[in-house]
Amino acid sequence: MKDNRYGDEFQQRSKYRRGHLPGHRLDFHSKPSTYKQHESVIKSVDLPSNHEFRIDSFIKVLKDRRSRRAFSPDAITLQDLSTLLKFTTGTRSGNISRDNFHFRHVPSAGGLFPHETYVIANRVEGISRGLYHYNIPKESLDLLKTGDHEKTLARICLDQDMAYLCAAGFLWVAIIPRSKWKYLQRCYRYIYMDIGHVGQNFYLVSEALKLACCTIGAIYDDEGNEFIGLDGIDETLVYAGVVGKPS
Ligand SMILES: Cc1cc2nc3c(=O)[nH]c(=O)nc-3n(C[C@H](O)[C@H](O)[C@H](O)COP(=O)(O)O)c2cc1C
Repeated sequence: MKDNRYGDEFQQRSKYRRGHLPGHRLDFHSKPSTYKQHESVIKSVDLPSNHEFRIDSFIKVLKDRRSRRAFSPDAITLQDLSTLLKFTTGTRSGNISRDNFHFRHVPSAGGLFPHETYVIANRVEGISRGLYHYNIPKESLDLLKTGDHEKTLARICLDQDMAYLCAAGFLWVAIIPRSKWKYLQRCYRYIYMDIGHVGQNFYLVSEALKLACCTIGAIYDDEGNEFIGLDGIDETLVYAGVVGKPS
């Protein structure tokens, strides 16, 4: 059915074709903000700032990386959570330019970084359970909702058990206008690639920290959006990751 070919149509219509590049001018006055800040925050938790850790061998981390879906009931440390956040969507030190812009530990088309991270903390030492937003420039976790949300996380992730059992769930949200500002409709290609890099760092850092993790693409998008409080159009959940101590 033609109506069901929206993916095929997107792939064809978003191709760059010689002689037909969009050629629009970038309007820096309308450039969307680089970071999301929540106004209604219950409390803000500063994250540990030392992210140095030793690994035996980078090759071993690459070789051993895999999706692990079983977790022990133990909590993960706030230090480990902070390290995961830092190397997925956190800033790289140095290179600060106009508008408090920082490079990151992941590449991103146009350096636009069209992603934000929300964390559901189920068992993280030193912080209460709840839904948090990772405040990237402040390197803090902003508590948005208190309480136990493991059932909600599992429901969002098509009822997958690992999402109920994890110590923490990462919800990666696309901020579409950040990338659309430059790439117009082609932005969706780059947004998914950009967030894919975030997922790979999530795997590699988890492996290096000897944590178990798995990323999740099977999500009920709008159930996740409603839970976080996103409009599902400009800001929409696209990918998740679950992490915990290995069982
Ligand atoms: C984009 C993406 C979405 C995924 N979604 C799920 C998922 O919803 N459930 C799941 O159990 N695994 C999911 N995975 C993990 C894959 O099943 C896994 O990477 C694949 O089987 C290869 O195994 P490995 O990661 O252990 O090498 C996803 C992986 C990626 C990259």
